[in-house]
Amino acid sequence: MRDKSFLMIPGPTPVPESVLLEIARHPMGHRSSEFSKILESVYSDLKYIFQTSNDVLVYTASGTGAMDAALSNLINEGDKVLSLVIGNFSQRLAKIAKGLGADVEIIEVEPGNAIDPAVLKARLDKDVNKEIKIVTLIQNETSTGVTNDVKTLVSIIKGHGALSVVDGVTSVGAIECKMDEWGIDVLITGSQKGLMIPPGLSFLAASEKAWKVHEQCKRPDFYFNWTTNRKSVRDNSTAFTPAVSLFCGLKVALEMMKEEGLENIVARHTKIASALRAAIKAIGLKLFVTDEKYASNSITAILPPDGISVPDIRKVMKNDYDIVVANGQNALKDKIFRMGTLGFVSERDAITAIGALEATLYKLGHKFTLGSGVATLIEHLNK
Ligand SMILES: Cc1ncc(COP(=O)(O)O)c(C=O)c1O
Repeated sequence: MRDKSFLMIPGPTPVPESVLLEIARHPMGHRSSEFSKILESVYSDLKYIFQTSNDVLVYTASGTGAMDAALSNLINEGDKVLSLVIGNFSQRLAKIAKGLGADVEIIEVEPGNAIDPAVLKARLDKDVNKEIKIVTLIQNETSTGVTNDVKTLVSIIKGHGALSVVDGVTSVGAIECKMDEWGIDVLITGSQKGLMIPPGLSFLAASEKAWKVHEQCKRPDFYFNWTTNRKSVRDNSTAFTPAVSLFCGLKVALEMMKEEGLENIVARHTKIASALRAAIKAIGLKLFVTDEKYASNSITAILPPDGISVPDIRKVMKNDYDIVVANGQNALKDKIFRMGTLGFVSERDAITAIGALEATLYKLGHKFTLGSGVATLIEHLNK
């Protein structure tokens, strides 16, 4: 049905109406005092969302722009980088580092798994000459629905002395992530996920230690240059012409997030995703994550039942129930489907989605007790 589509993909995520209306206003001049006031509010609220006292730089770019910005401001040719790879997006950090001429070593696990902190510790303990300068890692691997134990991993990296560069694109504003308290050196995210606005902005914060390493970077990128961009943040300005309308929407979205409170936001994501997982198992489907301890609270990756294809599930969900769920990526294409419960998502959305998934599987001939998913979901939401 026209205008009825509901996105349950890992991003872009649904956008609140008050944010959409703000974005729809005629764009204002980016050097006006009116816009500067919006920036002041946005820059301050972003520190709350990132749980940091460091400046949060904002780029008019997608999440990958901030990934690029993170590494191109730190790496000199030949630097040793250790990349912890658990799926496509953590792999992307390794690719960017390689492209910048770094000597990249990879610790990789089978998709569906998280990084074992003991494996990281063993590798870093062997680096007695402290050759490893940067460790790249992801908090929430969108391609597999797995969340790393970033708090523990970062404490190990800190113990070694390398910088931690963390992709928080599908975790910041959804899953607990305490930049300063945990000692994360560089943290990035994107706008179209937990922050509840459309794609087009990305964000980066860096620790004092990371800023010192940046000062030694011989060829930082021009557009993404940390120094240029931080100066603008401190002037309540932007270095270049920004996506003005998105900033206006972001101001409203951040106000909504502050009003709900970060702890409550994290609790909402935890409650909805854990209830969703229970419902999926009740329908007789398997989760892709191998150890539920590492299951993501923003994206759930699901194996289709025997004899029913992922494209058929996605097609019926979309055509008959106006709910868009994501396919797997690369080697996981057609092997798993992924449901996003990220950002502007409520219990009602989960109830609707599980109801629609049950109706879809029923139509496609899956044998299960009709209503078992919805019943389990409701029970879990009310525990
Ligand atoms: C964890 C993660 N990192 C990075 C990206 C890349 O972001 P973008 O597609 O906005 O460039 C994504 C996109 O989904 C993501 O989920």
